[in-house]
Amino acid sequence: MGQNLVCFDDTDSTNIQAKLLAEKGAPHGTLVCSDQQTKGRGRRGRAWDSPPGEAIYMSLLLRPGIRPEHASMLTLVMGMAVADAINELMDDSLAGIKWPNDVVLKGKKVSGTLTEMSAEMDCIHYVVIGTGINVNTQKFPEELNQATSLRLTTGRNFRRAELIALCMKYFEKYYGLFEETEDLSLLTDEYNRLLVNQNQEVRVLEPENEYTGLALGINNQGELLVRREDGHVEEIYAGEVSVRGV
Ligand code: BTN
Repeated sequence: MGQNLVCFDDTDSTNIQAKLLAEKGAPHGTLVCSDQQTKGRGRRGRAWDSPPGEAIYMSLLLRPGIRPEHASMLTLVMGMAVADAINELMDDSLAGIKWPNDVVLKGKKVSGTLTEMSAEMDCIHYVVIGTGINVNTQKFPEELNQATSLRLTTGRNFRRAELIALCMKYFEKYYGLFEETEDLSLLTDEYNRLLVNQNQEVRVLEPENEYTGLALGINNQGELLVRREDGHVEEIYAGEVSVRGV
């Protein structure tokens, strides 16, 4: 992963560039990075603040031989890789995952991933997994008061290239295990170990329903299992709901 590397000083969005490269036939494992982005995009249609010099903006192009409905699990695989890479670099196990794929340090978000796919019928053309990591950021805009960086957490700077290489190393390892079964069955223990929501009370906000329960961990499909007060265990699919701490 990442052997074919495309780097920009400045671009609109590494996800957009990775998709353009995919359309031109770029190979599986191509990694696109940029020092800054003018149109960085986050999940739920939000913008992703992308100033120069301090963060990682990277998009990994994959051509996986899996069914389109399984591709969303790749976002969780990248979340695990980023959390493990940060923990290795910080010599600590501070980084965890807030389901489904936000990486957090001391309760604040340090990384997010936006996965996009081109597919038809049962066939995936390509998947682009775009990840932003706040590395040496010292100050965030006021509205991002839930964001943090490696620098703000530890007081020291980190080499972005080293962190990118570690993310690729862990992603390659976990992707191999994901490919074997086309689900997360070989990865649930590792994921749940990183999951900061595990054994915590969470509030589940569905479009037409809201309840609290105990988060138990994820299943093989990456759904969060939440035990309601009456003992019933719900399987929550990431696309439909938002989960908050209570
Ligand atoms: C989120 O909302 O948590 C996902 C954020 C994803 C941001 C990254 S930065 C690199 C890539 N390019 C983009 O435009 N978005 C992703």
